[in-house]
Amino acid sequence: MQEKVNAILAEIGSADANSQEELEQFRIRFISKKSVVGELFAGLKDVPNEEKKAFGMKLNEVKQAAQAKFKELIDKLESSSEGGDHAHPDLTLPPSGAGLGSMHPLTYVRNQIIQIFERIGFNVADGPEIEDDFHNFTALNFPENHPAREMQDTFFIEKNPDILLRTHTSNVQVRLMQHQKPPLRSIMPGRVYRNEAISARAHCVFHQVEGLYVDKNVSFADLKQTLYHFAKEMFDKDTKIRFRPSYFPFTEPSAEIDISCQICKGDGCQLCKYTGWVEIAGSGMVDPNVLASSGIDPEEYTGFAFGMGIERITQLKFRVNDLRLYTENDVRFLQQFKTLH
Ligand code: PHE
Repeated sequence: MQEKVNAILAEIGSADANSQEELEQFRIRFISKKSVVGELFAGLKDVPNEEKKAFGMKLNEVKQAAQAKFKELIDKLESSSEGGDHAHPDLTLPPSGAGLGSMHPLTYVRNQIIQIFERIGFNVADGPEIEDDFHNFTALNFPENHPAREMQDTFFIEKNPDILLRTHTSNVQVRLMQHQKPPLRSIMPGRVYRNEAISARAHCVFHQVEGLYVDKNVSFADLKQTLYHFAKEMFDKDTKIRFRPSYFPFTEPSAEIDISCQICKGDGCQLCKYTGWVEIAGSGMVDPNVLASSGIDPEEYTGFAFGMGIERITQLKFRVNDLRLYTENDVRFLQQFKTLH
């Protein structure tokens, strides 16, 4: 028995651990309930009474030696590379930083658009994204079963009566004219939805800013000058603007607005399809039917309206060539706009 105890003591004295596994092996062999030390204690009952005291003291010595060694091995492992970094962090290292977010380019451009129009007397209005047929189509002079309704691939939520996701911000025009008396001078930014397959050039969710000005004697010249001012403020001072005849059910006459290509400055490039011009908005004089169906007397008042895509303006400003980038939340994209505020 005595020899066995000495052999175990010697084993403890020379034990070493260079990994967590070896430490665990030491624990199992010398510390745990089923350890060799535990076995020695269990054998104590068979020791003759007169030797018990001395033997017991010897066993306590073994137990303490095992525990002291165990602690020594833990300390050694912690200060070595295996698992030591947590116990002793390097306090001189620079902090990794909390990763501050930045403004989304669409938010930035929307704010720019709002500021430009606010400076010339427009206020900001808002309306619902879930809309009824009347405000999105009927009041805007879209005839029943007219193909113009199919120009905008609509997401319907309910049929008969139709509830849908608005396909443009023009619904807010109607709501404003229903609830306020002219003069009206508002811009209406917001999200719009169309049932389109997602690609670099089309998306089912995008953003528009609608503009509406209704008062006595508002003319097409006012529309032209307002958007010319906008183009020069948003882009640079020598940006050119042109109006192309177009069709919208809710404006008459209607025009699409092009600006000189910001990428090639009019020389021709891929973005402008070598025409030197890019479209930024639809516009026109508010159709008298629209004024009337919203409760405004078309004999007394005239107005102009326009609608532009925020993604399009952002593309021209920052050369973003794929619409999907705006919603993918890829930080490599978003971080490029860190300096915006
Ligand atoms: N609502 C039209 C569109 O989404 C844009 C527009 C707005 C055209 C106002 C004319 C007047 O395409």
